Amino acid sequence: MPQKSAVTATGRCPVDHTALSPALSPTGCPVSARAAAFDPFQPDYQQNPAASLRWARDEEPVFYSPELGYWVVTRYEDVKAVFRDNLLFSPCIALEKITPASDEVLAILKRYGFAMNRTMVNEDEPDHMARRRLLMDAFLPERLMSYEPAIRQLARQYMDRFIDQGRADLVAEMFYEIPLTIALHFLGVPDEGAEQLRQFAVAHTLNTWGRPTPEEQLTIAHNVGRFWQTAQSILDGMLAQPDGEGWMYESIRQHRLHPEVVTLSYLRSMMMAILAAAHETTSNATANAFMTLLTQRDSWEALCAQPALIPNAVEECLRVAGSIIAWRRQATRATQVGGVTIPQGGKLLLVQASANFDPSHFEDPDRVDLYRENAVEHLTFGYGAHQCMGKNIGRMQMRVFLEEFVRRLPHLRLVQPQSFDFLSNTSFRGPSALWVEWDPTLNPERQVPVQLVTLAEFQVGPPPKDGLTRTVCVCDKQTEGENLFRFVLAPVGNSRLPAWTAGAHVDLIAGGFRRKYSLCGSPTSSGCYEVVVQRESEGRGGSRHFCDTLQVGDTLQMAGPKNLFRLDESARHHILIAAGIGITPILAMADRLRALGHRYELHYAGRSRQHMALLARAEGAHGPHLRLHLKDQGQRMDLPVLLASVGADCRVYACGPDRLIAELESLAEAWPEGTLRFEHFSAEHAALDPEKEHAFVVELQDSGLRVEVPRHQTLLQALQAAGVDIPCDCGEGLCGTCEVSVLSGDIDHRDKVLTKGERQSNQRMMACCSRALGERIVLAL
Ligand code: HEM
Ligand code: FES
Repeated sequence: MPQKSAVTATGRCPVDHTALSPALSPTGCPVSARAAAFDPFQPDYQQNPAASLRWARDEEPVFYSPELGYWVVTRYEDVKAVFRDNLLFSPCIALEKITPASDEVLAILKRYGFAMNRTMVNEDEPDHMARRRLLMDAFLPERLMSYEPAIRQLARQYMDRFIDQGRADLVAEMFYEIPLTIALHFLGVPDEGAEQLRQFAVAHTLNTWGRPTPEEQLTIAHNVGRFWQTAQSILDGMLAQPDGEGWMYESIRQHRLHPEVVTLSYLRSMMMAILAAAHETTSNATANAFMTLLTQRDSWEALCAQPALIPNAVEECLRVAGSIIAWRRQATRATQVGGVTIPQGGKLLLVQASANFDPSHFEDPDRVDLYRENAVEHLTFGYGAHQCMGKNIGRMQMRVFLEEFVRRLPHLRLVQPQSFDFLSNTSFRGPSALWVEWDPTLNPERQVPVQLVTLAEFQVGPPPKDGLTRTVCVCDKQTEGENLFRFVLAPVGNSRLPAWTAGAHVDLIAGGFRRKYSLCGSPTSSGCYEVVVQRESEGRGGSRHFCDTLQVGDTLQMAGPKNLFRLDESARHHILIAAGIGITPILAMADRLRALGHRYELHYAGRSRQHMALLARAEGAHGPHLRLHLKDQGQRMDLPVLLASVGADCRVYACGPDRLIAELESLAEAWPEGTLRFEHFSAEHAALDPEKEHAFVVELQDSGLRVEVPRHQTLLQALQAAGVDIPCDCGEGLCGTCEVSVLSGDIDHRDKVLTKGERQSNQRMMACCSRALGERIVLAL
């Protein structure tokens, strides 16, 4: 690994070295050798940014890069936390030149009248949110629906041109021009000539996010200057005749109504920024998606066989090969990110491409899994108040392209060998060409005339929840004790099941029932999954159906795996507590801790040996660490005694009935925050019962909106109905996606996300399930 001095021309190490031990790093600087060597402008970085930063995700998740003068943030939770707080982490540097301009460059830009300033993406609050709300209408799903036929028609027309040729560069033939045409149409801008705009966009990207040589900078500055002037003449034409259709016309009309919010300077800067952002992002994301799927041929074939997977495939491709790989923020005061102190004014490079591969958020992250339940949680569109406004236009185009290709050219292949070129810069990623080939005599429409009906109906927005299931087959079923059945599930056909981590669960769907079960077999070995189902004769029927009806050879649907109960592998000591069927995730955790060689103790309570699942396995694998608590032998699990010495470096994991969890929660009041972790499959209290609820009012400070939340609606539903775009995933208080900041008013917390301390601080809440205790709350939105 090459070692560099920690101080370079572009960035100076911000840490005072005088009192530091030289043992900290070979250079005597706390910036490690790998951090010092990090250079996102080298070609191998763009080839695979996630792999280039694997070392950082594993060992140094937030590091200072002297090459950039930025703190690089690589883990999912840290990147999301920074995106989430746009007051502490200002977006003001999002469009700053990452390579400072020389005086000569500044003089050239000045000659063109270049005056790029605040747009939307780099504007601070409260101006940003006020502007965003005024300009949101054109992005609403009902408005976007009208674009689908035009996208489809263009896709068909462009494909007609090359479908009989057998070979094409998809970027040149289609993926560049269609998103450009759609973007211009959406903005209301007349067609300016694709080739020139392409040159301009490259110059803009290199100017803002690249590291050109001083000579290259001069040429780029001229192109950026011309781009600016072209954008201004388009805008001047639109300002002179402001009655046209399109988002920029709507912005002009809002400028006339609210000149202090939608300012003229904003319009001028936005005109140039959006010309690049609205199509480059989508062109690159589409090329990346085809490159990913055709490289992983089994994924492409799965998509051809099952086009209903397309909406999730789009999200999975945005996760593994997003077109925006890193974005920027600046700390407005000294703070901590991932335990690292960031000084006031510290600049942060949030590497979404790395966060999207974080194994603590995505199971088996290196694998392309079209069934991935949480693919949509990728950070490629950013997160929080500035999350991409155009995301649903981008998604829609990618879906339509995929749908047309899997139908008309399922036998498409990448030309091999082929190396892909990417523009050297920190943030935009997409191949400059994508060569594919196929045998035109095998084109399906040569056998059957082309079907102009659409095979799959796609909704605007993220993929529907709970719609994604794969078929699995019961390949073994064994009794595990009284009313306990162990099922082994295997993939059907050529498909493979993804690897999973201890604590993960799947949803099994059969006979009209959907139930969650923890995985308890070996995470990697056989490619099969194991679950244990307890037959509950007094339950709602799901477990009875699985235990009584499902037999070896039967198929059923499965969603997941998903992990909401993760092991903190950095802790020094682990206490695992299971009661009854709660052993399933706990045993997987014990297996993992044993494999890691970590210190752990396993407590397993049950009525009698006959009522305890996986007992022989627990005894065989964890004998010296295992303590059984058998009720029929009078061995009660005395939690206060067992847990008397829990300290700061210890984690307690528990899965079992509510009374066990309740007792642990009360003991945990004396422990450091975050010590106790437990599994909750259902958040029963999250369900709304209008009879028991009361209506309240929510005031949104940044936007000045006032929204009534009736008894029968959640806060999230009421806010979404008022046009406030809040992301939601689980919808039941489990995942933290819908978190909002509370400024005043008491909260009736009903989620399973916030810690006790966070609840008491009354500063955040989950909008999908929690409510106001009183008549009114004020949110920072
Ligand atoms: C902001 C990515 C398509 C309009 C952003 C941000 C990212 C992004 C990373 C910054 C988010 C943040 O700071 O939290 C993408 C990707 C796209 C895409 C990956 C395609 C796959 C589009 C399209 C449009 C658009 C097609 C418009 C037609 C915007 C706007 C913002 C934005 C207006 C600023 C939002 C704000 O600051 O409030 N986009 N974008 N984007 N994007 Fe996109
Ligand atoms: Fe998951 Fe609200 S959407 S907690």
